[in-house]
Amino acid sequence: MEHTQHWLFHRPNYVSRETSCAYLWTLLNFRRTQNFGGDLARIIAVANQKGGVGKTTTAVNLAACLATADQSTLLVDCDSQANATAAIGFAKDPSRRTLYHALILNEPAEKIIQKSQVDRLDVVPADKNLAGAAVELVTAEHREYRLQGFLGPLLPQYSFVVLDCPPALDLLTLNALVCANSVLVPIQCEYLALEGVSELLDTLMRIRRTLNPSLEIEGILLTMYDERTTLSRQVATDLRSFFGTQVFQSVISRNVRLAEAPSFGKPIIFYDIHSKGAEGYTQLAQEVIVNAEKRLGTGARSAHSGA
Ligand SMILES: Nc1ncnc2c1ncn2[C@@H]1O[C@H](COP(=O)(O)OP(=O)(O)OP(=O)(O)O)[C@@H](O)[C@H]1O
Ligand SMILES: [Mg+2]
Repeated sequence: MEHTQHWLFHRPNYVSRETSCAYLWTLLNFRRTQNFGGDLARIIAVANQKGGVGKTTTAVNLAACLATADQSTLLVDCDSQANATAAIGFAKDPSRRTLYHALILNEPAEKIIQKSQVDRLDVVPADKNLAGAAVELVTAEHREYRLQGFLGPLLPQYSFVVLDCPPALDLLTLNALVCANSVLVPIQCEYLALEGVSELLDTLMRIRRTLNPSLEIEGILLTMYDERTTLSRQVATDLRSFFGTQVFQSVISRNVRLAEAPSFGKPIIFYDIHSKGAEGYTQLAQEVIVNAEKRLGTGARSAHSGA
């Protein structure tokens, strides 16, 4: 299928190293701004157009860890691969309403949102029809704001909304970035780790200039880290020296239990709480909560979550 290119994504094919470094530098120096009140959910888009870097694993496990830490959370599967929907435990069901019904058919949230097996974690599922949404949205009115329109009324019910984006800078990713407070970028600790990151950051800058001026970087997350390999250690060191404090302290190790958990439809903390993967995502959730509390001022979020 041909990718639908939004005007925001039109860019030169070649960006020099200096230009991309400048983009990164400017982006990382954006002032963090607070654009939500203490009684509305913080929307975090997990995005990187590079495939297989750990977006879905991060979205699912971060959402489950946040919910388990008493933060009512909504996980939104924005990818027609529907991997997050499966990983959180939903078998294929053609009659189930999905994000497609929300964005294209304007069906009400109560028909679409599903309770998951994890307390305080709800899900907006996806299925393969969502691939059509990216195309159908091209001619739709307010096409960039559909997800924002759907999520807006739901925000008072949640502390966090986690969006699992597809591996493309398409209209679904654009919808996610337009309504998000922040972007969490997983980067695999492998050769060519930064491939595509400057394009993503370029896109984030365009969105900040136009559709969502307060979009922040939640953080850069090192994934599939293997401490035994020199390459992993080198990539991690390079990313930290380049991105500085924008990189989360928490690191997600390469861990076979993380790869197994989705086939059991369970987040890692319910599949193997003692695994390295569970440890990494628990720490990440703590970092995200602490950062949210810092932004809100002490106590506001605890009061909101009822903790
Ligand atoms: N830390 C990890 N250790 C081992 N395997 C992992 C880890 N993180 C993810 N995986 C596995 O790597 C594969 C890709 O991960 P995932 O689906 O999360 O990436 P993605 O960025 O969402 O991919 P896509 O771009 O296709 O949406 C999956 O099989 C997943 O189980
Ligand atoms: Mg994915």
